Amino acid sequence: MKVDGQAYRSLWWDAGKGALQIIDQRWLPHDFRVQQLDSLEDYATAIVEMRVRGAPLIGATAAYGVALAMAQDPSDASLDRCWSYLHETRPTAINLRWALDRCRGALRGLAPEARAGAALELAHAVADEDVEINRAIGRHGLQLIRDIAARKPEGEPVRLLTHCNAGWLATVDYGTATSPIYQAHDAGLALHVWVDETRPRNQGALTAWELGSHGVPHSYVTDNAGGHLMQHGQVDLVIVGTDRTTRNGDVCNKIGTYLKALAARDNGVPFYVALPSPTIDWTVADGVSEIPIEERGGFEVSHVQGVDEAGRIGTLRVAPEGSAVGNPAFDVTPSRLVTGLITERGVCAATPEGLAGLFPDMVAAA
Ligand code: MRU
Repeated sequence: MKVDGQAYRSLWWDAGKGALQIIDQRWLPHDFRVQQLDSLEDYATAIVEMRVRGAPLIGATAAYGVALAMAQDPSDASLDRCWSYLHETRPTAINLRWALDRCRGALRGLAPEARAGAALELAHAVADEDVEINRAIGRHGLQLIRDIAARKPEGEPVRLLTHCNAGWLATVDYGTATSPIYQAHDAGLALHVWVDETRPRNQGALTAWELGSHGVPHSYVTDNAGGHLMQHGQVDLVIVGTDRTTRNGDVCNKIGTYLKALAARDNGVPFYVALPSPTIDWTVADGVSEIPIEERGGFEVSHVQGVDEAGRIGTLRVAPEGSAVGNPAFDVTPSRLVTGLITERGVCAATPEGLAGLFPDMVAAA
């Protein structure tokens, strides 16, 4: 997608420097900073500190991390070490394990001297496939938005609500939940997007920045506004992303997603989840009891980050000194609250049969 007229992906390989470049998302939307990752420690830090974030982007970053490890030492021991080291960076998004498994599985079958080149090709493939998957998700989601637009008076915008950032910054390009939005906007449909701010890390600010850069009308709202907006008929459709979806269709996403799904159900608003197939964990049935929920540091909750009038980025304490702080980063929305799943192969019910119908090959391989 474009930033100030220039096309970017959320990460890219600089062949001249022989290194991965990332957008350090900690500073967005206030400052656009690019960082080069030179060591495996750099990769792990980038994921842990959420310089890169979003399930598909974490997976793609890890794939390039494996390529770096193989360039330094292509032995079996190095491959296993890299797998474990990167796997422990963040626990919830399954794309991380998916990418690491895919790379290790393919590389193990090769002689060590062939691994460095093959690992880099694999990382490029993971990144490029993510872009194509998201484009396809956009096509399927666009049809949902068209159907709603067709039922509205001419020129009235379709009003969507999204939570967190499931945009191009959270993937390699286009995003998952935002891909249908971008395609609908580009097709000339009138839209308005309610963007939840998504405390504590304010990923909604990233979504608002993305939508603004693409010219999509939107409003940045507090996390608690969604129920009220739905109750007053201000939301036609909710689309969110996911960090891990079970084979039964339970959806684990950024903390607060579950509350939006409850409000949507109570108000008859369709609640869709956009996901690439690498986000499906075929080994897990029940999301609430089986998905590990990341507990992040209390500083993210006790403080807020922002920019002052002089353009200086800083943090301010909001919680009283001495209060204990809790920071679960994700929650699980049970499948019964999900109207449908928008995947690269089409839209399906959030049920075992719905997912198996679209992905019989993956069910068989699991
Ligand atoms: O903690 P984050 O910012 O990595 O969480 C990101 C989300 O929860 C996204 O909504 C999710 O990864 C879907 S992104 C396509």
